[in-house]
Amino acid sequence: MPTVTKICCIGAGYVGGPTCAVIALKCPHIQVTIVDLNQARIDAWNSRDYKLPIYEPGLEDVVREARGRNLFFSTDIDKAIQEADLIFVSVNTPTKKSGVGAGFAADLKYVESATRHIAKVATSSKIVVEKSTVPCRTAESMRTILEANSRPNCRFDILSNPEFLAEGTAINDLFNPDRVLIGSLQTPDGIAASNALLEVYANWVPKDRVLTVGLWSSELSKLAANAMLAQRISSVNALSAICEATGANIDEVAHAIGYDSRIGPKFLRASVGFGGSCFQKDILNLVYLSESLHLPEVAEYWKQVVVMNEYQKRRFSKTVVDTLFNTITGKRIAVLGFAFKADTGDTRESPAITLVRDFLQEKALVNIYDPQVVHEQIWTDLTEVMPSVPLSDIKKQVHITTSALECCLNTEAVVIATEWREFREIDWEVVYTGMNKPAFVFDGRLLVDIQKLKEIGFQVAVIGRGERL
Ligand code: UDX
Ligand code: UDX
Ligand code: ADP
Repeated sequence: MPTVTKICCIGAGYVGGPTCAVIALKCPHIQVTIVDLNQARIDAWNSRDYKLPIYEPGLEDVVREARGRNLFFSTDIDKAIQEADLIFVSVNTPTKKSGVGAGFAADLKYVESATRHIAKVATSSKIVVEKSTVPCRTAESMRTILEANSRPNCRFDILSNPEFLAEGTAINDLFNPDRVLIGSLQTPDGIAASNALLEVYANWVPKDRVLTVGLWSSELSKLAANAMLAQRISSVNALSAICEATGANIDEVAHAIGYDSRIGPKFLRASVGFGGSCFQKDILNLVYLSESLHLPEVAEYWKQVVVMNEYQKRRFSKTVVDTLFNTITGKRIAVLGFAFKADTGDTRESPAITLVRDFLQEKALVNIYDPQVVHEQIWTDLTEVMPSVPLSDIKKQVHITTSALECCLNTEAVVIATEWREFREIDWEVVYTGMNKPAFVFDGRLLVDIQKLKEIGFQVAVIGRGERL
């Protein structure tokens, strides 16, 4: 079995960065080098004052301990590849925007170019591990590229080792994973490579939590896990619509069904919709895969999870417009939270983007506050979602504030889009005083105490609660 002493990670993003930083922390005897094409990103990982390129609770402590010891960040990709015994490919795999499979299939150009890079510069045998979430059979394409382009005496073993960390809890998820999944070809060489990676994780993960399976099962399991999780949210969100129409309470319903040990209590929180870089992308991937395998009913089944999510976002913004007397033109609305969930600065597929777009299209004025999202990112997201509107026009309608209180001042309505803890601690009496009346609160994250807000004088609408207003 090959022994791993040097690891290279290609891609210093949300997945590669934290994952390989934790590997370095837990394996002081292994040298870990994380490389990226993006110089600014690498500079941020190397910054003296630890202004890391991603916000993740606990990450800074990990980097402080391991950086410069056995953890390095670099743009010298060739050198890191040449030195490594094992290479994680952890590059981005966005949904294709044009061509065959546009809107559904994953764009594998970054995976392919990283793979070609490995083949071009490697001078010794390597274990190559796909870490990015990829469609089934990507490992096979990687193997074909590597074998067709490698030098003599260089052999490549391909593993699939999908990452299950969730943003906001990444460090804890990496320290105590429910499971680590390693897929390999079931050949002696494939199994030996799989064991070599298993030994890396065994430095801190109990061996019975490391599952070793075939390559294709591993790739499909990652898509399946995310699809099943997203499906739970769409299911509970579909029920939230029934609750609103009937007077049932989605919190009570979720609590009651979660008590069934076959269902379980986690991941049943109704919301304005799921976001994040994975759920929608992975489901669309699964839909595309099913269609390519001539399984239209299967494709249709999974597609419905995304359709329901879109419906939930639309339904929420429509509730805002309907409740504000069918027009929000010229009215100022406070949007609290822009990240796709709490404890992250990531806005990819954030439902807040859709909500703000809808409000702007209705000609409202929008204040936005998020404790972590950088302002530049908000402008980028709004420009992307409204390509025909110049940024200068968007800026006439949108104001980004630096506190929740400031965000709510002189508005007609407050919309809670992300469940940041600090929003639970808002002094609603003060907010009420500063708002125009009647003052409305729309809670898309089941966060507020409805009774308390009503007593202050607010009109309140909460996802999945029938007794609105
Ligand atoms: C997800 C998976 O959880 C993780 O295992 C995988 O590796 C990557 O994709 P992530 O997207 O970081 O992780 O966050 P997650 O906590 O799963 O939340 C995704 C979205 O669902 C967020 O917008 C969140 O607000 C929403 N959500 C989650 C709900 O609306 N209700 C819930 O009960 C849980
Ligand atoms: C179900 C609910 O489980 C129970 O809580 C409710 O009160 C009545 O409906 P039941 O229909 O008796 O109970 O049986 P259940 O064990 O749930 O199985 C239902 C069907 O699902 C069966 O045909 C079973 O074979 C099938 N099933 C169940 C699967 O195909 N796969 C599974 O993993 C579980
Ligand atoms: P994820 O959420 O999957 O980690 P990110 O977009 O956060 O995705 O990070 C992926 C990183 O991979 C980016 O920083 C990007 O610059 C980097 N990257 C993409 N292709 C290559 C490549 N061929 N070589 C090195 N880095 C790459």
